[in-house]
Amino acid sequence: MFELQSKYHEELRQGEAYTSPVVGDEPAGKKFYIESYGCQMNFNDSEIVASILQKEGYSATSTYENADVVLINTCAIREKAEQTVRNRLNAFNSVKKKNPSMLVGVLGCMAERLKAKLLEEEKLVDLVVGPDAYRTLPVLISGAESGQKSVNVLLSREETYADINPVRLNSNGVTAFVSIMRGCNNMCTFCVVPFTRGRERSRDPQSILNECGDLYERGFREVTLLGQNVDSYNYPLNPPAIGGGQGEVTFARLLEKVAAISPELRVRFSTSHPKDITDEVLYTMAEYDNICKYIHLPVQSGSTEILQRMNRTYTREWYLNKIKRIREIMPECGISTDIITGFCTETEEDHELTLSLMDQVKYDLAYMFMYSERPGTLAARRYKDDVPEEVKKRRLSEIVALQQHHQAEKMKLDIGNTYSVLIEGDSKRSTDDWCGRNDQNKMVVFPKGNRSMQKGDYVEVKINACTAATLIGEMLN
Ligand code: 5AD
Ligand code: SF4
Repeated sequence: MFELQSKYHEELRQGEAYTSPVVGDEPAGKKFYIESYGCQMNFNDSEIVASILQKEGYSATSTYENADVVLINTCAIREKAEQTVRNRLNAFNSVKKKNPSMLVGVLGCMAERLKAKLLEEEKLVDLVVGPDAYRTLPVLISGAESGQKSVNVLLSREETYADINPVRLNSNGVTAFVSIMRGCNNMCTFCVVPFTRGRERSRDPQSILNECGDLYERGFREVTLLGQNVDSYNYPLNPPAIGGGQGEVTFARLLEKVAAISPELRVRFSTSHPKDITDEVLYTMAEYDNICKYIHLPVQSGSTEILQRMNRTYTREWYLNKIKRIREIMPECGISTDIITGFCTETEEDHELTLSLMDQVKYDLAYMFMYSERPGTLAARRYKDDVPEEVKKRRLSEIVALQQHHQAEKMKLDIGNTYSVLIEGDSKRSTDDWCGRNDQNKMVVFPKGNRSMQKGDYVEVKINACTAATLIGEMLN
C-alpha cells in the first residue's frame, strides 16, 4: 500500500516518461528518439532539443529501434531517478549491439552530475550533454558519428534558449510549458540542482511574451511559466524599458504581461520558494481572473531546526504566515507542497512537527519523498545521512496517509461547487467524457452529452462526486 502510494506520488511529481511523438508515416532521413525524466523543466528542455535537431533536418521517431540518435533526458534529484536511467540505457544498449551505428546520448542533470564518467562507466553512451549545452548537440553528434566520444557539460551564466521555439512534444494542443528562467541560486543543502543546472538567469521577457502570444494564436489556452524559483525572476532593462519605463521586469510584472495577452489564456507558474513569493505576486494573481489560483509552495519540513539544516532560510512560523497571507488575499487558492522525510538528524519530534504543519495547512496536493543523499551536495559534505531506511519509510507512510486523508476531505468540499474548466481532451477512461482542470489545478471529468464542445473550450461544470484525485461533474448551460 505504502509502496504503491509513494510510487504514485513520485510519478506525479516527476511526470511519466514521455517519448517523441510521430504523426502519420515516419519520414525518410535521419531520425532522433528522445525520452524524458524528471521535472517539467526537463520536459520543456526536450522540446528545445527537438527544435534544435529538427533545424538540422532530423525528424522524431517514437520507436528507439528506428532511431539514428537515441537521447535520454535525465534527472539526478534522487538516486532512484538515476537508477531508472541506467535501466533504460541497458535497454538501448541491447539494440545498439545489433545496430552499432546508432548513437546513444545522455542529456540533462545526470549528464551534468556524472560528466565523462558516464562515457567511461556506461560504455555504450556516445554523447554526454549538460542542460546548458544543447545548442552544441549537432556538432557533438557529428563528432560521435566519426567515432569521437563527445561531451559538453559546460554550464553558462547566460544561456536561456530565448530564441528557440520549442517543438511541442506529446502536446494536447491546449496547455504548454514555457521556461522563464534557468538554474538556481538557492543552496538548499539536500539539492543537486544548483550543481546540475548552474546559476540562476532570467530569460528576456519579450521572448517569453512572444512565445506565449504565439501559443495563444495557435489555439493553446494555458501556459505554465517554469523556473526552479520563479519568484526571483528578474530581468534588468536598459531604458527605454518595455512597458513602464522602470529598470527591471519582476515576476509580478511578467505575470501581468502574460495575463494581458488574452483573458482566454490561462496562466500558471511553478515553482515558488516561500522566502521569495511576494505580496505583489499574490495581488497580481488576485487581480487577473486568468491567473490560476494555485500555488505550489514546497515546505520540505515542518521543523524549524531541520529547515535551518536544509538552508531553506525560513522558519515554520514564517511559512505558516505565508499560507495565511495567501488565504487572506485569495481564499479560494489551491496550495500544494513538497515534503522530504528523514533528512539528516530528523528526530521523531521533527517528524511530528511536519505532520502538525500538514494538519494546519491541509494541502490540496503533496509530493512526498524520502531523503536521498546526493553526492557533492552541502548535506552530503556536512551531515551524516543518519535516519535509518526503515524509519524513513515509516515516516513517509505516515505523511502519505495523512495527506490522503486531507486530500479526501478537501475533494469532498468541492462537491456542489461550480467551476470553469478548460477542456484538455477525452478523459483517460472514456471518449464519452471530457477532462480538464479547474482554476485550482484539480482534474475534472464530465460527460460530453450532445453539446458540441471541443478541446480548448471553457465550460462551467457543477461537481457531483469525487474520487481520490478527480472531481466528477456535469456541464451547465
Ligand atoms: N532527496 C529527496 N528529495 C529531494 N528533493 C530534492 N532533493 C532531494 C533529495 N536529495 C525534493 C524536494 C524538491 C523536489 C523537487 O524534490 O522536495 O522540492
Ligand atoms: Fe529537474 Fe532537478 Fe531532476 Fe534536474 S535534478 S531534472 S532540475 S528535478
